[in-house]
Amino acid sequence: MTRLVSILLLALAYNHTFANPPLNEPISPIPEPVTNSPKQVQLGRLLFHDVRLSQNNQLSCASCHSLKHGGADGQVVSTGVNGSKGEINSPTIFNCSLNFRQFWDGRADNLLSQIDGPISNPIEMNSSWPEVLSKLKQDPFYIEQFQQAFKNGLTINNIKAAIVIFEESLLTPDSRFDLYLKNIPNALSAEELEGYSLFKQYGCISCHQGVAIGANLYQRFGIMGDYFADRGNITPSDLGRYRVTQNEKDKYVFKVPSLRNAALTAPYFHDGSTNTLEEAVAIMMRYQLGRIPNKQDINKIVLFIKSLTGQYNKSKL
Ligand code: HEC
Ligand code: HEC
Repeated sequence: MTRLVSILLLALAYNHTFANPPLNEPISPIPEPVTNSPKQVQLGRLLFHDVRLSQNNQLSCASCHSLKHGGADGQVVSTGVNGSKGEINSPTIFNCSLNFRQFWDGRADNLLSQIDGPISNPIEMNSSWPEVLSKLKQDPFYIEQFQQAFKNGLTINNIKAAIVIFEESLLTPDSRFDLYLKNIPNALSAEELEGYSLFKQYGCISCHQGVAIGANLYQRFGIMGDYFADRGNITPSDLGRYRVTQNEKDKYVFKVPSLRNAALTAPYFHDGSTNTLEEAVAIMMRYQLGRIPNKQDINKIVLFIKSLTGQYNKSKL
């Protein structure tokens, strides 16, 4: 025992001497995903890409959350079964386990309760868990795989669990910005670093912070100006948290989105109204901070945001 302790202490001392200490910043690096059960992750990956989860066997989760497109779908609003149009922009699935609540309006507390939404939503997959189960039960491959991965084999709860475990594996560590936070020399260019300083100086960091650089609080969209009046054509999904709480002060309040991998997830905002990061940052300056957008600063902040693109399975997204 004492020997083990002294070996541990030695290892710690070694690390301490030779690795640079991490920087003390209001953002922390994304950790490596912890995968206790590769079989369950693999099963979740198959289910996430399986069109049998939708009523007409045309859509999988990945249709709207493509791992090849930053975990989103690149559309203003998503397209559901039979071409029905959704009412809100699809957020990225990468790092979704870091969200303090799920959905733009935070109506699901966690990934397990979130997952009932898309399955039954008539403008998404328009199905039900019993229907999904009965389809998957016709497939000997799934029966076999579930038996290997879960004690009680193919059940509704295990289908949900496998998808959630897969979602939890979708962390994107080792962006260049995270390497900078880990104090690796020259991880960022001088301009990207300036962008990060501006991000803090302007006060973006007061809302976009923590490990996900967002996704840990609710805020009104349009604090210093009326975004919705200026944009026009207000829809029910613009009401944000109000739809969950019916509380007047929650009108136009949304979960602050994570900025991780944002370079890959245009168009931006819950309404998908904005195609470029430059425009999105200008809108933030004007409506969240009451500042007159300044092109030079915007460009540097955008360079910083682009340095937030991380890695999935050891390759850059
Ligand atoms: C038809 C497109 C579509 C399909 C299919 C779909 N989603 Fe989504 N997903 C969306 C949209 C749009 C939202 C945002 C809805 C909202 O916030 O009201 C969303 C939100 C989410 C979120 C919350 C992310 C966040 O940042 O808040 C998760 C997690 C998620 N989906 C997982 C899934 C899983 C798992 C499946 C498959 C079972 C799935 N989605 C199928 C379009 C889709
Ligand atoms: C007062 C809080 C607040 C401040 C300050 C703030 N933001 Fe935001 N940001 C939000 C909210 C809320 C949203 C989501 C708005 C929506 O779509 O409804 C958002 C969305 C974004 C998006 C779009 C992300 C996506 O995936 O759609 C970007 C990019 C962004 N902010 C960057 C910035 C930058 C850069 C700054 C500083 C110039 C900043 N924000 C300042 C709250 C804030």
